[in-house]
Amino acid sequence: MKRVIVFVFIGIFTTATVVYLLYWKPKKNMTTEIQTIVKSLNLQPHPEGGYFKETYRSKKTIPNAILGSQYEGDRNESTCIYFLLTSGNFSAFHKINQDEIWHYYKGVSLKLHIISKEGNYSYVMIGNDFENGEVPQYVVKGGDWFAAEVLEKDAYTLVGCTVAPGFDFADFVLPKKAALLELFPQHSEIIEHLTH
Ligand code: GUN
Repeated sequence: MKRVIVFVFIGIFTTATVVYLLYWKPKKNMTTEIQTIVKSLNLQPHPEGGYFKETYRSKKTIPNAILGSQYEGDRNESTCIYFLLTSGNFSAFHKINQDEIWHYYKGVSLKLHIISKEGNYSYVMIGNDFENGEVPQYVVKGGDWFAAEVLEKDAYTLVGCTVAPGFDFADFVLPKKAALLELFPQHSEIIEHLTH
């Protein structure tokens, strides 16, 4: 009888060990996962916050005469970047001349805040929980102010941003907190939170 009990115990222990070894995957530490993405995609720190890598810059350019007075000089027809944002960091309110298309790739959802040129505030969640209103694509209109943040702790979001005409830091306006507060005092709470 004793022998039977010992065999049953050994059986249970062996089965449990095999199941554990087959199905247990070490939980990847979030910092390691972020570092892996930054390294694998060769991302660099972005002045607006987060990390980025330009993945496309069209060879063809649009002459300044066609672009109009908003632009100084010619621009590439289009550009595209990877953009990675992490918790405890944010993409500060900024604006560019052209529409910017955001694409969701990986990670938790991203809260994209917009203050239109007319001064209307709105936000959209970029993510893949479509049933709950998140969207995998969103277009921020040229001239509108926008900022982004990862709401969850210890998390990241990887997105893509495409613009046409192509991006140029000469068109990139990153205002100081005081300057944006002066423009939109009615949105002081979100501006205090998402500017430097
Ligand atoms: N290239 C460098 N920075 C940016 C940016 O903020 N947006 C886009 N679309 N391209 C960039």
